[in-house]
Amino acid sequence: MNPATLERVTRGFAERFGGEPTAAAWAPGRVNLIGEHTDYSGGFVLPMAIERGIAAVARSAVGESRVLAVDTGETRPLDPLAFAPVGGWLGYAGGVLVLLARRSGRPGALEVAFGGDLPIGAGLSSSAALEGAVSLAAGRVMGVELSPAERAALCRRGEHEYAGVPCGIMDQAIVCSAVAGHALLIDCRDASMSPVPIPDDAAVVVMNTGVRHDLASGEYARRRRASAAAAAALGVESLRDIDEEGLAGRAGGLSEDLARCVRHVVGENARARRAARALGEGDLGLVGSLMNLSHDSLRDDFRVSCAELDTLVEAARGVPGVYGARMTGAGFGGCAIALARPEAVAALAGAVACEYRRRHGRRAEVFVSGACGPAGMVDL
Ligand code: GLA
Repeated sequence: MNPATLERVTRGFAERFGGEPTAAAWAPGRVNLIGEHTDYSGGFVLPMAIERGIAAVARSAVGESRVLAVDTGETRPLDPLAFAPVGGWLGYAGGVLVLLARRSGRPGALEVAFGGDLPIGAGLSSSAALEGAVSLAAGRVMGVELSPAERAALCRRGEHEYAGVPCGIMDQAIVCSAVAGHALLIDCRDASMSPVPIPDDAAVVVMNTGVRHDLASGEYARRRRASAAAAAALGVESLRDIDEEGLAGRAGGLSEDLARCVRHVVGENARARRAARALGEGDLGLVGSLMNLSHDSLRDDFRVSCAELDTLVEAARGVPGVYGARMTGAGFGGCAIALARPEAVAALAGAVACEYRRRHGRRAEVFVSGACGPAGMVDL
C-alpha cells in the first residue's frame, strides 16, 4: 500500500467528520492473467492482485451512518437497517455495511471514508477492492471477524443484492486471498485456490484505455444469461462440465450465438489451466500465446472487447520482448494487460501510447505491477 493513500483518506475523514477513525484497512485491485468470463460458469481463472488499491477507515458514530468517497468529496448518509439497492460506489459500500450490520446483531451508526490510487471503473476491480477495504475497517468497528472466504462471499453478495451487478467470485476471491508474488489459479466451482509464482523475468504491464462503454453492465448480465442458457441447452449444470473433447460432438444443435459462447468458455477454461501450468514452469512464451488466444476468443466469439482494447493489445503484441497481450476483466473498455520481459517495458509503454493516441486521440495510462498480497487491516 502506498502510505500516502491512507494519509489522504484519514485526512479526508478528519476534515469531513472531525476527529480520528479507529480502524483502517487496505485492499488491492487485480488483473486477471487469463480465464475470462468463466467464473460464473464454475470455471477457472488466474488473477493476481496489483499494488494499487483502496484504503478505508471507520469509526462508530452517534446518529446516522455516513460514507465519504474522499476522491470525489461526496458524502452520503445511509441507514444499514433500511438501505435500498443503488448504483455506483454507494451500492458497493452500502451492501457490505448492511450485511455486516445484520451479521453483527448490534448495528450502531458508523462513519466510513475510502479512497485510493486504483483507477475507478477501469476493469481493475475497484468495486471488489472497495468492498474488501470497507468490510475490514467497518467489520472491525462492528466486531465482525470473517475468514477471507467468508469475506469474499459477503462482498459478492452485497454487490449482487445492493449494487445490482451479477458478478462471479473471481474479484472478491483474489482481493481477499491474494498471495504476494503469485497469481492464483481459482477453481470457481468450489473456490479452491493454487498459488502460482510469477517468475522474476516476467513483467505484468497494465494498459488503461480510459474508456468504459455504456453497454458494459447490461452486456455483462446478457453474457451470464447466455452461458446459463447454453449449459441448459447442453443438459449440464454449468459450462464447466464440458471440456474440449466433450464439446466436439455436442454443439451441433445450438444457435450460432450460444455456440460461440460455449466455444469461448470451454476453450478459456482449458487455456487458463494450461497457462497456470506453463507459468509455474516458467514457460512465458506459452503463457503469452495462450493470452493472445484468450483475447482473440473474447473479441471474436464472446464479443466483449472493443476497438480501444484491440488497439492496445495489437500495439503491445508488435513490441519485441512481449510474450502476449489481452484484455482483462469484463471488457467493453477498461484495461488490457501484457506479459513482457522487464527490459521491454519502456519500449512497450512508448509504442502503446503512440499508437493509441494516433488511432483514438487519447492517452493510454501504462504501468507495471508486481503481484501483491491480500486485503488486510493497517495501522493508523
Ligand atoms: C468482472 C466480474 C468477474 C468476472 C469478470 C470477467 O470482473 O466481477 O466476476 O466475471 O468480470 O471474467
